Amino acid sequence: MTVTISPSILNCDIANLRAELEKISGADVAHVDVMDNHFVPNLSWGLPVAEAVVKSGILPVDAHLMIEDPDRWAPAYAEAGCSSVTFHAEAAHAPLRLARELHRLGSKVGLGLKPATDIAPFVDILSEFDMILVMTVEPGFGGQSFIDSMIPKIRRTREAINASGLEVSIQVDGGVSRKTIELAAEAGADNFVAGSAVFKAEDAYAEVEALRALAARHQH
Ligand code: DX5
Ligand code: ZN
Repeated sequence: MTVTISPSILNCDIANLRAELEKISGADVAHVDVMDNHFVPNLSWGLPVAEAVVKSGILPVDAHLMIEDPDRWAPAYAEAGCSSVTFHAEAAHAPLRLARELHRLGSKVGLGLKPATDIAPFVDILSEFDMILVMTVEPGFGGQSFIDSMIPKIRRTREAINASGLEVSIQVDGGVSRKTIELAAEAGADNFVAGSAVFKAEDAYAEVEALRALAARHQH
């Protein structure tokens, strides 16, 4: 699969959102982290910000919903024009129904797994998703360290996808940097969220390209 670089705008300079998005225009999507202070112990923003990023027209929007009751809230993100909407397995009441609803509304669908959630219960329903998000930190905050023990889960997920013959993407999110991206890519990830690595870099555009080049060494 081709490499997808998905910078997270969680810790960008939000008062200068357009300029921040322009810095990452060489990326594939803008990853927008929605947090509700219930599913995770942090509050970020919701639909109006996702909508504003869609309307800027700079990059497609990859919405990562770290929220309770995505069954109720996620469809509006697809309706707003987000190109992909990821909800968490731990939060969804009816993940299949929700995935189908999001597809009907025209977005791609991701299933998010916190570090302690296994892929095994979802192996038989992989065909309902375009992407599996393997969290490589406990969700809630940017700037945390990549959890190395997630590598076997990435590998098992890639094996299950290959065995099913499906084209499902594996996204990793949390602590992705020049130091960790190759490990994740080698294990089978093809979609890389990077927040602080990109926005703390002197040249965000160049950082996106550097991450892409490192990941591309390991794509098959
Ligand atoms: C964490 C968020 C991430 C986060 C990534 O809960 O889902 O997208 O912003 O930030 P870094 O790359 O700094 O770990
Ligand atoms: Zn995220």
